[in-house]
Amino acid sequence: MNDAVPAVTAVSDSQILKNRYAKIIGTGSGIPARAVSNQMLADELATRNIETSDEWIVARTGIRSRYIAGADETAGTLGLQAARRALEMAGRDAQEIDLILVATSTPDHVFPATACLIQGWLGNRKAMAFDLQAACSGFVYALSVANSMIISGQVRRALVIGADLISRIVDWNDRSTCVLFGDGAGAVVLEASSTPGVLSCAMHADGTLTEMLNTAGRMCNGAIVNHPYLRMDGQAVFKTAVTVLEQCAREALAMADLPVTAIDWLIPHQANLRILQATAKRLGVPEEKMIVSVDQFGNTSAASVPLALDRAVRAGQIKPGHKIMLQGVGGGMTWGAALVQF
Ligand code: UT7
Repeated sequence: MNDAVPAVTAVSDSQILKNRYAKIIGTGSGIPARAVSNQMLADELATRNIETSDEWIVARTGIRSRYIAGADETAGTLGLQAARRALEMAGRDAQEIDLILVATSTPDHVFPATACLIQGWLGNRKAMAFDLQAACSGFVYALSVANSMIISGQVRRALVIGADLISRIVDWNDRSTCVLFGDGAGAVVLEASSTPGVLSCAMHADGTLTEMLNTAGRMCNGAIVNHPYLRMDGQAVFKTAVTVLEQCAREALAMADLPVTAIDWLIPHQANLRILQATAKRLGVPEEKMIVSVDQFGNTSAASVPLALDRAVRAGQIKPGHKIMLQGVGGGMTWGAALVQF
């Protein structure tokens, strides 16, 4: 080796992670004005001869109501609400944010990114801003990306938002899907810290499973080509979800070298209460440690995890030092788990 070339000191990944963490310092939600109970939805569908009932929806999914966006509400406006609340809790100004990341499958426009719209409304003119699409896993994916950018030193503070209006792409004539979803947004502010924050992220996808859950339509020459509504093989998604949610939680725990008993709160993607219960059971996490918001919001896709997180933080359930397992699963199929210390 040439003596003139300075020796490079190898720094292992674990050393970098030990020195710099991404910590959640604020959470927030953005919820549409209109709440729709199962009964209201059943009555509305009955006018079009589509039969469903509060009993069926509660028994099969645990959902009791959801919020449906009005004409002037979008992923951007709800995301903005969530972002403002998260910034307020964090005690940070929008100008202090270096990265705005919005996870959504229902963006306001093809482009510019919903993240850029929110950035503009916040009056921030310098942060890196982009959208990420990983369906219902979008928020945990985005958290993982923001975490990497913070621990690498590229950014100091990030606004990570999950926002979706699945009501806009659901087929309201298909009772097997339209009763499941709701609209909303959730956000967190992440900041570089020397005390533990995000402990591990285990993210995956299997692109051979695109037929299980998709919205295949796209814009082309001024028209929509392909099926414009969400389509799902419910039972296949159910089986896949419980399997991968267990796997990625165990992987995230192993990466952080922690046992299942270290989990103070489990927040799986809020798709169906039965999926949540099965995940907790497979992992051996008591149900009292599971945060449930699917009953109130339905499946809000990329918003489901940050909405549930914000609810639990504001209810005082999640306290400093607690370790939370956040989990997503959705179209792609995509899935992932992030273990986070508050
Ligand atoms: O974010 C990730 C995406 N989504 C999910 O994670 C969803 C995963 N899947 C599920 O949650 C469940 O599979 C569903 C809730 C979608 C369905 O529950 P299920 O227990 O698998 O019901 P099923 O599809 O086997 O349907 C049972 C019956 C059927 O009638 P028959 O064939 O037994 O006569 C359906 O036609 O229930 C009927 N049905 C309904 N009945 C009343 C389906 N939807 C409805 C409805 N109201 N809304």
